[in-house]
Amino acid sequence: MSLRIAVLHETVAGEARVAATPETVKKLIALGATLAVERGAGAAAGIADGDYEQVGAQVADRSGVLAGAEIVLAVQAPEPATLAGTAPGAWVVAAFDPFRRAETVAAYGAAGLEALAMDWMPRITRAQSMDILSSQSNLAGYKAVLEAASAYGRAFPMMMTAAGTIPAARVFVMGVGVAGLQAIATARRLGAQVSATDVRSATKEQIQSLGAKPIFVEGVAGIEGEGAGGYAGETSEEYRRAQAELVAGHIAKQDIVITTALIPGRPAPRLVTDAQVATMRPGSVIVDLAVEAGGNVEGAVLGEVVQRHGVTIIGHRNMPSRLAADASALFARNLHNFLAAFWDKEAGRPVLDAEIGDAIRLTKGGQVVNPRLTS
Ligand code: NAI
Repeated sequence: MSLRIAVLHETVAGEARVAATPETVKKLIALGATLAVERGAGAAAGIADGDYEQVGAQVADRSGVLAGAEIVLAVQAPEPATLAGTAPGAWVVAAFDPFRRAETVAAYGAAGLEALAMDWMPRITRAQSMDILSSQSNLAGYKAVLEAASAYGRAFPMMMTAAGTIPAARVFVMGVGVAGLQAIATARRLGAQVSATDVRSATKEQIQSLGAKPIFVEGVAGIEGEGAGGYAGETSEEYRRAQAELVAGHIAKQDIVITTALIPGRPAPRLVTDAQVATMRPGSVIVDLAVEAGGNVEGAVLGEVVQRHGVTIIGHRNMPSRLAADASALFARNLHNFLAAFWDKEAGRPVLDAEIGDAIRLTKGGQVVNPRLTS
C-alpha cells in the first residue's frame, strides 16, 4: 500500500493559497505516494480540480481525501476536529503559528495526530528550500509595496514631463528580514528613493547593496538586538529611546513606510506611534506587515485600511494570499522539498531526523512534545 497524502481545501476566511500544486503532486506521486486532493482546493489559486487529476491525483470531498490519509498537507493547520478519518498518528504538515494557537496544538495532541509546524523550520542551510516563512515573506514584502503604491495618490518614480517634474516617492522600510529586503528591492525597481532600518547591524550592508540608505542608531551600548538563530531579540530601553528619536525625525519626511519587524514568540515591537503618524504629510501611506502579530504601527487595524491624520494605514491580513498562485507554488515546493529530503525508499514514506524533526514536531503519541511549548 502506498502512502496516502491528503491535500486540503483551506477553511480560514480569505485564505486563497493551496498546499500542493499539480507540479508537486506529480513529484510526490513519483516518490511512490497516493495523492488525494479535496475538491476545489486550488480554485482560489487558479488551479482546477482537473489539473490535479491530470497528474494522477484523486479528487474527492473532505471525508474522502482524509479516509486513511497518513500525511495531511495544508497551508494553515485546520482545527483537528475537522480531520476525522485519518490514519492513527497521521502527520499534519502546515503552518501552525504554535505560540498563538496553543489550544489548537493541544487538541492535535489529544487527537493523536503528529503536528509538524513548517513555520518552525530551523534556519539552517539545508532547510532553506523548506522554509515557508522565507518563501511567503518574500512575496509579502513585494506585495506590500504594490499595495502602498496603489493607495498612494502620487507616483513612485521621478518623472520629468513637459508639464513639469514629479519628484520620486520616499519609502522607508522598517525591519530588514526577508520581507523587508524584498520591499526595498521592489520600491527601488519602481523608482522610489528608499531608506531602511533594523536592529541587526548585519543588515546595513544588505540595505546598501540594494541601493538604499541605512538609518541606524549609532553609539548606544548593547544595541545589537541580535537574538537566537539569526532572529531579532528584544532591545534595551536605552536603545529603544535612541531608535524612536532617530526614526521620528526620519518618518516625518517619508511618503511611504513599510514595517515588517517581528520577534519570534513575542508581540511585534511598536515602531511607529500615533504622534509620529501625525507628522507625516497627508496622503502618505503606511503598510504594517506585522499587524497579525500585534502591529508595528499604532492605529493599524488587523484586516482593515484606516485613515489617521490623513495617512492611510494598511493592515491587510495574510499578504501572501493576495498573490495566491505564486505563494502556493512556493509553499507547495517547500512542502515537497521537505517530504522528498526525508523520503525513505524502503519505508515508502518520509522519516525525519532529530535536528529538523524535533524542531518542527509539536505533538506526538497523544501529547505536546515540542520543548518550546512544554518548557
Ligand atoms: P523576522 O520576520 O523575524 O523579522 C523581520 C525583521 O525585523 C528582522 O530583520 C528583525 O531583525 C527586524 N526587527 C525586529 N525588531 C526590530 C526593531 N525593534 N526595529 C527594527 N527592526 C526590527 O525576520 P526574517 O525575515 O524571518 O529573517 C530573520 C533572519 O533569518 C535574517 O537574517 C534572514 O536572512 C535569516 N534567514 C535565514 C534562513 C536560513 O538560513 N535558512 C532562512 C530565512 C531567513
